[in-house]
Amino acid sequence: MTNSKLNASIEACEYLKAHIETESIIGVGTGSTVNFFIAELGKIKNLFKGAVSSSEASSKLLLDEGIEVFELNDVNEIMLYVDGADEVDEENCLIKGGGGAHTREKIVAAASQEFICIVDESKMVKTLGAFPLPVEVLIRSRSYVARELVKLGGTPVLRQSFITDHGNQILDVHDLVISNPKDLEQKINLIPGVVDNGIFAHHKPSKIIIGKN
Ligand code: A5P
Repeated sequence: MTNSKLNASIEACEYLKAHIETESIIGVGTGSTVNFFIAELGKIKNLFKGAVSSSEASSKLLLDEGIEVFELNDVNEIMLYVDGADEVDEENCLIKGGGGAHTREKIVAAASQEFICIVDESKMVKTLGAFPLPVEVLIRSRSYVARELVKLGGTPVLRQSFITDHGNQILDVHDLVISNPKDLEQKINLIPGVVDNGIFAHHKPSKIIIGKN
């Protein structure tokens, strides 16, 4: 698994090197696969200006590598966003948020010119949904949102002892049949109190790099 994640990261860095300019800002996701990518990025840090990060955890790793971290509000253009995923279907739709960072990840992905997803083979699925869908909720709306998610056929479970970077909670929703990811992404986000859910169908990656062992 480690080799697959590393190989996908190396491949993403090769792609980056071919397109990068000294003023480029890179978008960086979150998770164990991206951690390998950040280490690779550290080796070529002189080739670009800095990064916009999708989480406090990734910001720390980027700074440790000597890469300057910019706030999304302070940059005009992100040339490329690189992130992992928990599941990838045949249409490149994703489930993300295993690390609870999907809200900011989706924003940075949407704000970037291109989104590349790096995964190991185990993440590839026919239909999304075996991985419980993370839904970030305002704490005060948790019970109401949970009842609405049950109406959609899901079984929400509160992620224990976890608070997101934005001070919210996560409901991990089991038993959802995600046959139409675009539709479900929208439906869940229309429930008042939902901050964002981990389906990436409206902002899916243009390229998936599947790392092999
Ligand atoms: C973080 O919230 C997630 O969206 C991650 O991108 C996703 O969980 C993939 O993480 P791993 O690379 O650790 O599997």
